[in-house]
Amino acid sequence: MRRPLMAGNWKMHLTLAEAEALASGVVRGLAQAQVSPEAVEVAVCPPFTALERVSRALAGSPVALGAQDLFWEDQGAYTGEISGAQLADLGCRYVIVGHSERRHVIGETNQAVRRKLEAALRHRLGPILCVGERIEERRLGRADAVVQDQVRTALAGLSRDQALQVTIAYEPVWAIGTGEHASGEEANRMAGLIRDQVRELFGTEVAEAVRILYGGSVKPANVGEFLVQPQVDGALVGGASLEAEGFVAMAVQAAGRQGG
Ligand code: 13P
Repeated sequence: MRRPLMAGNWKMHLTLAEAEALASGVVRGLAQAQVSPEAVEVAVCPPFTALERVSRALAGSPVALGAQDLFWEDQGAYTGEISGAQLADLGCRYVIVGHSERRHVIGETNQAVRRKLEAALRHRLGPILCVGERIEERRLGRADAVVQDQVRTALAGLSRDQALQVTIAYEPVWAIGTGEHASGEEANRMAGLIRDQVRELFGTEVAEAVRILYGGSVKPANVGEFLVQPQVDGALVGGASLEAEGFVAMAVQAAGRQGG
């Protein structure tokens, strides 16, 4: 049984005070709603600048801390980069790797994503590997091939134990921040395709254990459509994670999914 994960990606938003208030609001809201950590895992991924402050706000709560990116080297003359060692030191449990904004705005390649994923694993950070096609690729009927290639390049050759640490988020680029989301059925089909690929690489046991999330314009009003899908194990939420009440409401819905 895969425990659902509700993860918030705060992207390049929030001052320190705002980040602290949001984190505290999430912790408080989950406690008030009596959300059981066994029923859903909740994680927030603030910008690097707020990691330490948020880590303090989360202390003693079941909410996990994640970062949005890391560099593939552990230390050295890499101006502006942040290493997995530094993130582990801050108490991060997760790190997003290969988000589409990094792939398509910053220019990260599949190979760079692979190196980052290895760095995350080296520091015992759970990578949240993001994959997803662009609208042109979908229109050309290439969505499946693009996503399969992203998954294969990121994961092939990892050990079974390493693969078990990975969470995969299917985030179609055309659905991110657009208000337009994949249908529940299509999200389920793509998650199934990703799971088949994991099965091909690591066998059934790993494939059945790895969590696959959906991301792209998820909000309280539509998250249920994804949570009912058997292949979808939670969500990676951008804009709608910046508001504590709505984010908690989505975690509550995810908690209700378990066993369903
Ligand atoms: P939105 O939820 O704002 O569409 O962003 C999704 C995303 O990119 C999460 O990583």
